[in-house]
Amino acid sequence: MKVLVTGGVGYIGSHTCCELLNNGYDVVVVDNLSNSQRNVVKKIEKITGKKVIFYKGDVCDKNFLIKVFNEHKIDAVIHFAGYKAVGESVKKPLMYYHNNLISTISLLEIMSDFGCKKLVFSSSATVYGNPKKLPITEDFPLHTTNPYGTTKLMIESILKDLYVSDNEWSIAILRYFNPIGAHSSGLIGENPNGIPNNLMPYIVKVANKELKELSIFGSDYNTKDGTGVRDYIHVIDLAKGHIKAIQKVINDNGIDAYNLGTGKGYSVLEIVNTFEKVNNVKIPYKIVDRRAGDIDACYASTVKAKEMLNWSAEFEIEDMCRDAYNYVLKNKIK
Ligand code: NAD
Ligand code: UD1
Repeated sequence: MKVLVTGGVGYIGSHTCCELLNNGYDVVVVDNLSNSQRNVVKKIEKITGKKVIFYKGDVCDKNFLIKVFNEHKIDAVIHFAGYKAVGESVKKPLMYYHNNLISTISLLEIMSDFGCKKLVFSSSATVYGNPKKLPITEDFPLHTTNPYGTTKLMIESILKDLYVSDNEWSIAILRYFNPIGAHSSGLIGENPNGIPNNLMPYIVKVANKELKELSIFGSDYNTKDGTGVRDYIHVIDLAKGHIKAIQKVINDNGIDAYNLGTGKGYSVLEIVNTFEKVNNVKIPYKIVDRRAGDIDACYASTVKAKEMLNWSAEFEIEDMCRDAYNYVLKNKIK
């Protein structure tokens, strides 16, 4: 079974490639390396002892995709490729609409031309906007607050329309909560350029003394300790969810959306305290104003993924904090 992984050199894609290879799938990766490094391909091969077929190219480029589909009989596609920074999407909406939408439409057209109609798509919990109650189930109303989120919602609509037009398609929409952590080897992980926007990459850089202190965005939220609560999920659990989703789209027809989260919410302060404890480091922090657009709390109902995909997360928050830091320590040594 050969799976095409777009954006497979990136953070979630690289971990998913390892799981695919370890589960006996052949993997073809396409990535334009706009937010990743080529040496990750070798690291995936080192971790798994298996070969990755890699093409550098842009998923918006249909001729490039035709070449890949001509050279390989692709059975199913996992589509990670896209831009993902919320703040940047507000500043450069056209860049986000162009890349995320054109890449997806181009991919769907070529898949259709080649009769490959099995797709797993990376969506985000951001499509739930500010949920009215918790935990979030997949049937909650969808709305977005930034261009990045809107690209995800638009793509979900495109996929639903596509299925209505041709019910040979089989599509799993995966709505990720907050992926953190890294492969236990320390070879692959999250490595954002510049100053990170997200909590865990920021904490890791403070621990590594690259940044002085963490700014905690608000302590007056309606949560257990006043700081924001999120559903953090280990990237390996997330990657394993993709294996279940691929099995589902290969065996069944239809379209469905699934939350991939743990169902547990942790506050910013709980994350800081856990990180300090498991890694035996100090994370200096100060409380600052809320970040615009942030919500009090967000965590998933995991019932549907458990029932329909037979998947649930296994790693605990301690594992996530340990593995996130281990990745940085291992890469410092090199
Ligand atoms: P990432 O940036 O690490 O990986 C995305 C990869 O896609 C990168 O390697 C990049 O070079 C590549 N890429 C981007 N545009 C491309 C194009 N046009 N053609 C070919 N390659 C292209 O991001 P990630 O964290 O691994 O996220 C993967 C997917 O999951 C994205 O679609 C993202 O929106 C979604 N997602 C991520 C998170 C998160 O917190 N990381 C949360 C929810 C959803
Ligand atoms: C953000 C995105 C979301 C995206 C997700 C994963 C926004 C509004 N949402 O979610 O669309 O899917 O990342 O990429 O950007 N925090 C601090 N200090 C920091 C950083 C974060 O206190 O330096 C707090 C935040 O206020 C929040 C929590 O930590 O309460 C998690 O933040 P973050 O990691 O950025 O994720 P989200 O905001 O949940």
